Amino acid sequence: MDPRPIGIFDSGFGGLTIVRALVDLVPNESLVYFGDSARYPYGPRRPDEIVEFSHQIAEYLTEAYDVKMLIVACNTASSVALDSLKERFSLPILGVIAPGARSAVAASSSGRLGVIGTVGTIASGAYQKEVEALDPTIELTCAACPGLVEFVEAGETDSEQVRVLAARLLHPVKNAKVDTLLLGCTHYPFLARVIQDVVGRDVVLISSAEETAFEVSELLAKSGLSGREDRAGKYVFLSSGDPERFKELGHRLLGPELEDAKQVVWEGSS
Ligand code: DGL
Repeated sequence: MDPRPIGIFDSGFGGLTIVRALVDLVPNESLVYFGDSARYPYGPRRPDEIVEFSHQIAEYLTEAYDVKMLIVACNTASSVALDSLKERFSLPILGVIAPGARSAVAASSSGRLGVIGTVGTIASGAYQKEVEALDPTIELTCAACPGLVEFVEAGETDSEQVRVLAARLLHPVKNAKVDTLLLGCTHYPFLARVIQDVVGRDVVLISSAEETAFEVSELLAKSGLSGREDRAGKYVFLSSGDPERFKELGHRLLGPELEDAKQVVWEGSS
């Protein structure tokens, strides 16, 4: 038994989709969530910047909270920083690319699969590589969706503007007649209704959240790191942005588990 918390991070609110799945699947685990709201969006940033931010957050969570495991709940950071994080830190570290790709490949019956993500995630080629390794016969259509993350961060998950933008950005995957669409950005499940309306009811939407949570649960059991079974997990939410705003919108997006948020200020933050 290991009562220490699991650390989770994202550029902002997106990783809360992973928190939701973890709260439901492993309710005895304590979680510390870090949203790097002061430096979002990560999608348009250079890979070396994202690597630097990810290492800084990992260092903070291991030092200040002694986390027993780290989940990179951001596709953009997973696609460019996961390997170097694993090299530098000795705790178990999980990303969201492999679990998402696995679920999506398993769900597609026609072999025509779509992936949407940030400019950084799609440009990294991480999904293209992962899907190819799982099943080289899959016909993969990728689309970068700049701007969608900003709508979620603004709390605008169902406006006319977000619908118009989604319709334009999702055109390539609609055109490719995919039967399954992987939401390759942890913010996108908050836009699932809009995305489903745009691509049509017959397309299966896949989020990496559930599969990532299953992987966490298996790894906890396998490595003897599970929390105490007789006690419910405790949750801490941290943001590098305005904590009041994080609390308000986070509560709306995640649910009652997000009761409070504390601010972490980066020195010399850009
Ligand atoms: N949730 C992040 C992801 O999964 C969004 C990145 C961003 O801030 O642009 O990629």
